[in-house]
Amino acid sequence: MTGDPHRPRYHFLPPANWMNDPNGLIQWGETFHLFYQYNPAGAYHRHIHWGHATSADLLYWQHQPIALSPTPGGPDADGCWSGCAVNDHGAPTIIYTGFRLPDAQTPCLAVSHDGLLTWQKWPEPIIAAPPPDLDLLGFRDHTVWREDGRWSMLIGAGIRGQGGTVLLYRSADLRHWEYGGPLLIGDAGQFDPVWTGTLWECPDFFALGADNVLICSVWDQRPYYTIAMRGDYRDGRFAPQVTHKLDYGDAHFYAPQTMPIRDGRRIMFGWVMEGRSEAAVLAAGWAGVMSLPREVRLASDGQVVALPIAEVRQLRGMGKRVSPGCIMPGAPQWTPIRGAHLELEITLFPPAQGACSVWLRASPDGDEATILRYDSARAILTLDRSRSSLASDVWRDAHHAPLPLAAGEPLHLRVFLDGSLIEVFANDRRSITSRIYPVRPDSGGVALQAEGNPAEVVAMQAWEMADIWGD
Ligand code: FRU
Repeated sequence: MTGDPHRPRYHFLPPANWMNDPNGLIQWGETFHLFYQYNPAGAYHRHIHWGHATSADLLYWQHQPIALSPTPGGPDADGCWSGCAVNDHGAPTIIYTGFRLPDAQTPCLAVSHDGLLTWQKWPEPIIAAPPPDLDLLGFRDHTVWREDGRWSMLIGAGIRGQGGTVLLYRSADLRHWEYGGPLLIGDAGQFDPVWTGTLWECPDFFALGADNVLICSVWDQRPYYTIAMRGDYRDGRFAPQVTHKLDYGDAHFYAPQTMPIRDGRRIMFGWVMEGRSEAAVLAAGWAGVMSLPREVRLASDGQVVALPIAEVRQLRGMGKRVSPGCIMPGAPQWTPIRGAHLELEITLFPPAQGACSVWLRASPDGDEATILRYDSARAILTLDRSRSSLASDVWRDAHHAPLPLAAGEPLHLRVFLDGSLIEVFANDRRSITSRIYPVRPDSGGVALQAEGNPAEVVAMQAWEMADIWGD
């Protein structure tokens, strides 16, 4: 796998095989624990285990032995699906979904007595069956928190004919739960401001400032994207006032999970799924990457946004600066920056009438290029993958993020390139996470282009990023 140009170097991923959702995120003593959906048998989703890694700083990771494996004959015989970890009065405790073919999903629990390395499963499911009065699609994934001296939990589901939902449960001991009704039911027939699908996976629920935030991954036959809802939580019910995509890279930022850490920040990781054929994934031998560690914040326009934690700057190595100046409309202007494992930071004024673009991972003739384009009139930031790769079996759809700029406000971009991974953060209020697979070895160029009228570059810098695996 060394020498695989698509493999990220400064993002977390297991040494090989399949990974999906981050699970069980928890700060325990001085250590951060990241568990994840993992198939040790290969780069495909089946018979899911919980992989495990630890870190002192959220940047550099040590792989740990597998934490949870399916138990033959048990409720998790065909998979230990997603869940969370809590501190139960000093006992590290995992609440997860046991999966059994053809489609049984059962809440399960496990406790560790050796510092989160090995886990003893509770002999019984902690909830025997979903509420009988609901016609549910799915009953899986957990978020658990303390409230009013007891535990509260949400489980993701969908109500047939209605929409996604999260079901609220309460408990004194994490092992016996009382159903408290749906916290919220979505409407799958509603497309405005954003369609919320038929099933909500991987719920996360927490206070942010004066509001509460519910994050769900929208599913309907397949993963669509992650939504954030911000609003009022009272008497076991949640009333969202604002609903939007959390990340505009759609299915490439999915099933995120957060953890509160002791310094007061709320840290998020999301699963960045592949965007190429199953055959290409199997040939590569690995699938799935974690996003950068992000901090959940309330953006200036009221959207919930997750931005790279400040520590990510520690990964910056050799830097290069581009002189400020005007980009005249016409052909792309090449910068001296090139590379596949970079951070780029650009501040520029797009033309008032027209558009401007940053070409990334571009070959000298432009046959391969990923184009990040801001259209001033439409106030939309687009990540265009149509020419990202000459390979025939990659996803080429573009991602669009609405991004109105205030009068006099420049466009501020931070772009993280890491092999096949790209994360874009714009004006501290939008993110677009995606995957690109350029095949040409010379597809490393960065260029700027203006359309219609000149664009003005105020500052532009790039850094070669560290290899967190140290080779
Ligand atoms: C989300 C998800 C979860 C489920 C897990 C199974 O990607 O489908 O709903 O628990 O993955 O791996």
